[in-house]
Amino acid sequence: EFPREFVRSLPKAELHVHLEGTVDAPTLLALAERHGVEPPASDEDGVREWFTFDGFPMFLERYFTIVGLLRDPDDFALAAERYLQTAHEQGVVHVEFHVSATGHVLENGKAWAPIHDGIVDGCRRAAAQTGQTWGLIPDISPHLPAADCARAMDQVFSHDLSGVVAIGMGGPADSWWTDDFTPIYERARSLGLPGVAHAGEHGGADEVRFAIEQFGAVRIQHGIGAMQDPEVVDLLVERGIACDVCPGSNLALHAVESAEAHPLARMLDAGVTVTLATDDPPMFHTSLLDEYERAWQWCELDEDGLRRLADNSLAARL
Ligand code: ADE
Ligand code: ZN
Repeated sequence: EFPREFVRSLPKAELHVHLEGTVDAPTLLALAERHGVEPPASDEDGVREWFTFDGFPMFLERYFTIVGLLRDPDDFALAAERYLQTAHEQGVVHVEFHVSATGHVLENGKAWAPIHDGIVDGCRRAAAQTGQTWGLIPDISPHLPAADCARAMDQVFSHDLSGVVAIGMGGPADSWWTDDFTPIYERARSLGLPGVAHAGEHGGADEVRFAIEQFGAVRIQHGIGAMQDPEVVDLLVERGIACDVCPGSNLALHAVESAEAHPLARMLDAGVTVTLATDDPPMFHTSLLDEYERAWQWCELDEDGLRRLADNSLAARL
């Protein structure tokens, strides 16, 4: 039987979770009411059913519906505070929140400064109760033009960088693999901010190589596609680049066909540094402890193996 209480007791970090994707059914309904917007379903069960996807495009459409419901600093504070508390109940001592910065700025016409300040308020409120640490990773959405993303990220770079630990990239993948975004990563590095990127989620090892070599990514979100190319696996291992793997997300978005097809066990066998994460937990009906349970089952882990995953997550914090 899965040693859930043992895993809860392990100090852990969660390094790959989207703040927008932590909005659960009651919070979504509260936000819709607050803004006088028709919610996608009228009650909590309906919203939970709405958290069902036939693939990545349908997921992104619904994800961006939630992006559009987060408007005021209080909305962001509420989401951040609630998720840190939820994570605390699972023994999570540190959370790094991805935030779809260019989505809020370019698609919703919002300014970054109040978003940042709201998130920081919410994180500080929770942390005062729980003692957790936290970081923010403003993300580029690569379906938007690179020049517009650069301008939006300039808002990030010129505002208070309190709590900002890196920049990232996540979203629709088609136009992603272009050097047009490289200068944004260079700008971030010049300010002392490392880069991370979603890569090898639905795509293959080339994406992971590109994220490392062109963007200078120091951590990869997902990275499961890396297993298609031994050279890219070597690159991850030699440089000690961690992959923040989300097994429940991969199943829910059909990034893998089945649990049996998931490369998690092969990643561990190859010596890749893996951290477990939830991505968008209510949307995928999952929690960090559920992700540890999947890893336990799929990789036949004992307590040492589970502890190693928790330790990896603490070591890979930014
Ligand atoms: N944004 C939120 N979840 C994501 C995922 N799984 N892949 C890419 N972008 C995302
Ligand atoms: Zn993600």
